[in-house]
Order: sequence, then C-alpha cells, then structure tokens
Amino acid sequence: MRKLHLRQLFADDPKRGERYTAEAAGLYLDYSKNRIIDETLRLLLTLAGDCNLHMRIEAMFNGEKINVSERRSALHVALRTPKGESIVVNGVDVVPQVHTVLERMAAFSEQIRNGKWRGHTGKRIRNIVNIGLGGSDLGPMMAYEALRYYSQRDLNFRFVSNVDATDFEEAIRDLDPAETLFIISSKSFTTQETLANAQAARDWCLDKLDDKQSLSRHFVAVSSNSSKAVKFGIDAGNIFDFWDWAGGRYSMTSAIGLSTMIAIGPENFRAMLAGFHAMDQHFRTAPLGQNLPVLMGLLAIWYNNFFDAHTQALLPYDQYLRYFPVYLQQLSMESNGKQITLDGMRAGWQTAPIWWGERGTNGQHSFYQLIHQGTRLIPCDFIGFCQSLNPLGHRQDLLMANLLAQAEALAFGKTAEEIRAEGTPEWLVPHRVLEGNRPSNTLLAERLTPGTLGSLVALYEHSVFTQGVIWNVDSFDQWGVELGKTLTQAIFPQLEVAREPELKHDSSTNTLIRRYRRLRRQ
Ligand code: F6P
Repeated sequence: MRKLHLRQLFADDPKRGERYTAEAAGLYLDYSKNRIIDETLRLLLTLAGDCNLHMRIEAMFNGEKINVSERRSALHVALRTPKGESIVVNGVDVVPQVHTVLERMAAFSEQIRNGKWRGHTGKRIRNIVNIGLGGSDLGPMMAYEALRYYSQRDLNFRFVSNVDATDFEEAIRDLDPAETLFIISSKSFTTQETLANAQAARDWCLDKLDDKQSLSRHFVAVSSNSSKAVKFGIDAGNIFDFWDWAGGRYSMTSAIGLSTMIAIGPENFRAMLAGFHAMDQHFRTAPLGQNLPVLMGLLAIWYNNFFDAHTQALLPYDQYLRYFPVYLQQLSMESNGKQITLDGMRAGWQTAPIWWGERGTNGQHSFYQLIHQGTRLIPCDFIGFCQSLNPLGHRQDLLMANLLAQAEALAFGKTAEEIRAEGTPEWLVPHRVLEGNRPSNTLLAERLTPGTLGSLVALYEHSVFTQGVIWNVDSFDQWGVELGKTLTQAIFPQLEVAREPELKHDSSTNTLIRRYRRLRRQ
C-alpha cells in the first residue's frame, strides 16, 4: 500500500468517490481519499473483530465497568438516552436520574432566560460565567461557540479556566456582579484551578454586593461531589448533579452543559441530545463496515500504526467550530494517551497520535504548507456544511471551494510534468511539485444545528473509543495528570515562603525555583 498512489486508485475505480462513503445521523463521510483498497478495509475490520469491538461496544452501552483502572462504567451514552428507556448500573436505572437533572436544568435555564431569576439586588442576570477546567470547561466553551447562532443574544457568556489570574480578571473586568451568575463546574469539586477561580469570584461578588446572602442568587454548581460544593458555600438547592460514570471529557451532555442550555434554551439542548443519541444508536447497531465512528477509528489506526503518522489534523470549515479542535484534543489525547494495556502490560505499539487543528481557511495560511509538502504524513479530517448560518453573497461557496480544493490538492498533488507544461524553469520545478497521496476524510452536513453538533461530537467520542479498543487501553482514566498536580502542591509553598526552605528537587528544578524566588522578590 505504501507504493500505491491515490491518483492510481481513483483512475482504477471511477466510482471510488461514491463507494467509499457512509452516512448516519445527518453526517456524510467521504473516506475515499484514504490510502486503502477493499482488502485494507477487510483486514482492518478483521482487526476490529479480533479485538472484540462489538462486545466492547455492548459492554459500554450496558454499563459494564469498562473503565477498568477506576472500576467504573463509562456511560456518557446514558446522558442522552430518551426518557422511558432504561440503563441499569449497580442495580439502579440511571435514565430517570438523568431526566430529573435535565428537567431541573431546563427550569433553571428558563428562569435565567426569561428574567424571572433575579440577582440579589433585583437586577436581571445578564452575564453567565462558567468556571471549570478540562472537560468542565472545553465542552461548554466549545458548545457555546458552536451554537452561538442559536443563543439568546441579550445574555453574555464567559468561560474562565486558567489558574493564571488574568483569565478571571479579564473575564469580569467589564461585568456588574449584580447581573452576573457564576456556574462552578467541577465533577470532583477539588480541582485547584477551578477552586481558586471560584474563590476569586466569591470574593469579587462579596466585595461588591456586601452580603453573604447574595451568593445564593449568583452562584450555582455542577458537581458529583455536592458535599464539597456545599462546604464551599453553594446553596444546596443550587447544585446540579452528575455521576461518577460520566467522565469529565465526555460530560458536555450532563449538567456540565448548563451554560449551553441557558444559551440555546432547553429545546435546542434536547435537539443536541437527540443528535448525540442518533449517532450512539448508529454506533451500536450499524454493521462495522458502514459504521462511521468505526471506519474513522480504523482509519486512524491505519495511519498511526501502519504508516507511523504522529499527528492527526482536524480542520473544520466553519467559524463557529473554532474550539472544536481544542475540545477534541482532550477527548482523544486524555483518553488514549496511554502506554499500559487493560491487562497491565506495556503496549508494544504506538497509541494516540497528537490531535491538532484550526478553522479553515485560517490554517491554510499558516500550517497547510507542511501538510502539502513537508516530510511527514498527516491525515486530515475536513468538516464542512452545505448551508451557512450567516449567508453573505457567495461566501459559503467560497469557503467550501477552499475545503474541497485542499482535500483534492492533498490527494492528487501536482506532478513535475504538469508543472513543466506550465513553462516553469527547470530549477524551480522540484520546489513546485506536490507529490499528493496525502490522506483525508471529508465530513459533510447540511447545516450546523444543535443536532448536527451532537452527532459530530458523538462520532468523535466513539471513534476515540474504537481506537482505544484496538490499542487495548483504558480510554476513560487519566492517571498521567496526577503527578504534576502533586508536585504543584509541593512546590507552591516553596515559592511563597520567605525563609526559603531547603529544596530537595533535582538541580534544574531547584535552580529554577531559586531564580524565580529572587526575581519574584524584586
Ligand atoms: O485534567 C484532569 C481532569 O480530571 C480532567 O479529566 C477533567 O476534565 C478536569 O481535570 C476537570 O476535573 P473536574 O471536573 O473534577 O474539576
């Protein structure tokens, strides 16, 4: 396969662009510009079979404890399961619990949206600030931006995540606390950065509103640790629950989506859940060879493990999807950035590549040069829509022409003969050659709606799961982030203490700490 060129594959099969396609839940996938033939697909599907992908999908949907190292289910699919269906975890049907919380979220969202919920001084809430990190930030931030078109425009949304105080200060600089609602989003309610920002928000409110009672009108929390949230000072009635079986990076359809629901309204939020659910059902029931998440997952394996590709580019041609690549980074890299298999052995193969990306056409004028002519193979996912939410002359056609042109240029390139035929001097020819044979998927949908966003996110969630199954890793834990957190706790007091306690780190860390202390004092 290494020697076969996409030019040849397309020439050999005029129907290739129609054959290598699949469609589900409002998304059309063209995977014909991949370096595969029928035999490749057959072998990849055999690999999926050998790894018991079908059984693992069922295990996930049935609430089995597939998060082995944390002994938990990974049941994000329950968060979008329609009322009346049932998923039992530890003897409890979780679907009614999910809908109870969704209904509470809907009632609260409506009150904010229609102005019935007032701030402490009686003013209407105009600003919603979500404080969270990782899955408690990226999902809400990405979804708000993606669905901004559907948002209530007299409400102003901000997302604070960084422990760098600048993030908080810049977010609240022009806000009036009497008109501001903070949503403290933290599954654990122990995340240091989130607690620091929540504390700053509380101090800011108390400073301006000068009454402890005011907090109950300006603070709500989303957490599976309500006792910690209450201890922090959140009114027990202002806490929206979620569950240990909903992982942080898989939680945007839980109460973590409260800011999204306030922005777009309960009806649109439900439409988004329906989009997720449609893709969930497709993943569970479609034959593997026509299953979008499975196909995309297997193609990712193909390049990662058989072509030694190190990265995967995500290229949405829609301004509203500007945070989609950054959201997907956590989804994939925190899920599958593992080197120990489910049996506790070291994986003898590469696992997750680096995911990165940018909106088209901005990326084209930044890093596409490397994708076209660099020495590395970078599989690309192009995502585009047939209708613009903001039609302006022929701009959507222009945007989509760019997407289609890039995928075509990557696949087919431009030969030396073609360049010579244009009268290019011989010395310039090699510089202008684009060898092509650079693979891509194209995902096309009619329009960016809440439902489309739901199916798009679910598609990637399940593609990531498929990859994790093949690599035989636990896609739902994240032990790798723990050591850094512990060391931060150790170093933090060493930076502050004036008497400079003895440092017992390595010589690099010790020297950096000493330098920091010196300059910090100045
Ligand atoms: O970075 C680790 C992590 O646990 C993520 O998995 C999670 O999304 C994030 O921190 C935030 O966690 P929490 O919602 O508990 O504050």
